[in-house]
Amino acid sequence: MGNLSCYAVVVPGLETIAGDELSELAAHDVKVEEGGVSFTTTMDGLFRINLRSRIVTRVLIRLTSFRALSFPELYNKSKKVAWEHYIGSQVSVSVRASCKTSKLMHSGRAQLAVSDAVRDRLGSASLITASQKNISGETRTDNRAGEQQILLRIENNQCTISLDTSGERLDRRGYRLHSGKAPVRETIAAAILRWMDLRVDEPLLSPMCGSGTFAIEAAWMAGKRAPGLDHTFSFLHWPSFKQKRWHRAVEKALAMQSLCPTCIIASELDAGILKQARENAAQAGAGGIIRFEQLDICRMTVPENISGPGLIICNPPYGDRIKGDVKSLYKSLGEVFSQQFSGWRMAVIVPDQGCENALGLKVKKRFKIKHGGRWIHVLSV
Ligand SMILES: C[S@@+](CC[C@H](N)C(=O)[O-])C[C@H]1O[C@@H](n2cnc3c(N)ncnc32)[C@H](O)[C@@H]1O
Repeated sequence: MGNLSCYAVVVPGLETIAGDELSELAAHDVKVEEGGVSFTTTMDGLFRINLRSRIVTRVLIRLTSFRALSFPELYNKSKKVAWEHYIGSQVSVSVRASCKTSKLMHSGRAQLAVSDAVRDRLGSASLITASQKNISGETRTDNRAGEQQILLRIENNQCTISLDTSGERLDRRGYRLHSGKAPVRETIAAAILRWMDLRVDEPLLSPMCGSGTFAIEAAWMAGKRAPGLDHTFSFLHWPSFKQKRWHRAVEKALAMQSLCPTCIIASELDAGILKQARENAAQAGAGGIIRFEQLDICRMTVPENISGPGLIICNPPYGDRIKGDVKSLYKSLGEVFSQQFSGWRMAVIVPDQGCENALGLKVKKRFKIKHGGRWIHVLSV
C-alpha cells in the first residue's frame, strides 16, 4: 500500500483547525471540505494521525471510485476491491450508503450490493456479514471495536467506497466516566484550545468546568499525551496490519510525553459535578495536574500564587437541557472578566446573539461549530 487517499470526518465548523493539525501531523494534499478534510498519507501517517489527532472524529480511506448505473454493475465493481487486505475472519462488517442525484437511489439495495460483493470475494465462511438491520439502511452513528465499517457514497452516478480506519469515534478518549450536565465533545474542546493558542507557560482557568473536558484536554495537550493511546482502531484487525510499524508509531508517541508544565485550575458550582470532573481527570491520568475548586463564577478572581495573565476557557450552561437564567450568567461572566482579569484572554461558547450581548465584551475573533444539533459561536475576547 503506497499513498493512501484519506478523508477526516470532523465536527462541522472545525474543518480549518483540523486541516492545520493534519498538516502538522505530516498529511499531504490537505484540502478543507464541508464536514471534513481530504488528504493523502502513508500507512505510517495513518497510524500517526489516528493516534495523535485531537480534533478529527474519524479517518476514512477512499478505496475506489467508479461510475455505476445498475446494482449488478455496483456489485461487480465493488468485488474488484482487495477486501482481503482489510477484512479478516470473525470481523463483523457494516455497510452504510448514501445516494444523491443518481440512477441508484435505493440506499438499502446499494448497501446489499456492496456487502454481497465483499462476502462473495472473501468467501462466505470467512465473513460474518453485517446485521440485517445495518444492511437494510439503519443509520449507525458509531462503530464498535471488532466491527469494520464500509461507507458507500453515490452522487451523480459516481460511487465512492471508503473504509473506516478509526473504529470507535476518536473523541471517545476513554476518560469520561461521567458526563456532567451537557459536556462538550473532547474534539471540540481540543480545537478551541488550539484555536486560542494554548501556551504551556500560561495558567489556564476552566470555570463552569462540568465534566472537566477543557481542563483534561489542556493537560493532555500541554503534556503531549497522544489522545489515541487507549483506543481500539479498526486497522488493528486488518489482515494487512503491520504490527512493527504500529509499535513504532506508539513508541514515538510515548516518547513525546512530558510532565504537564501548565497550571490548570478547574472550578464548578455543583459539588456533585465537581467530584465527577475529578474522577474523570484521575481516569485521564491528570488527577495530580489539575486543581479543582468549588466556585460560583460570580465570585471568581485571579487565584493566589498565579503570576501573570493567562487563559480562561468557558462553556456556560445553555440550551434545552439546562434550565435557568442563562443571560444573567453571561452578564456576570462578562463583568467578572472585565473587572478582575485585566490582561487575560478568554474563549467563551455562546448559543445566540442575546447571550453575546449580555456578555458585553469586545470580540477579537470568532468561529462557529455545530454541536448538539445547533450552531453555536466560540468567541475570543
Ligand atoms: C455546559 S456545562 C459545562 C460542560 C463542560 N464544558 C463539559 O465538557 O462537561 C456548564 C456547567 O456550569 C455549571 N454552572 C452553572 N452555573 C454556575 C455558576 N454560577 N458558577 C459556576 N458554575 C456554574 C453547571 O453546573 C454546569 O456543570
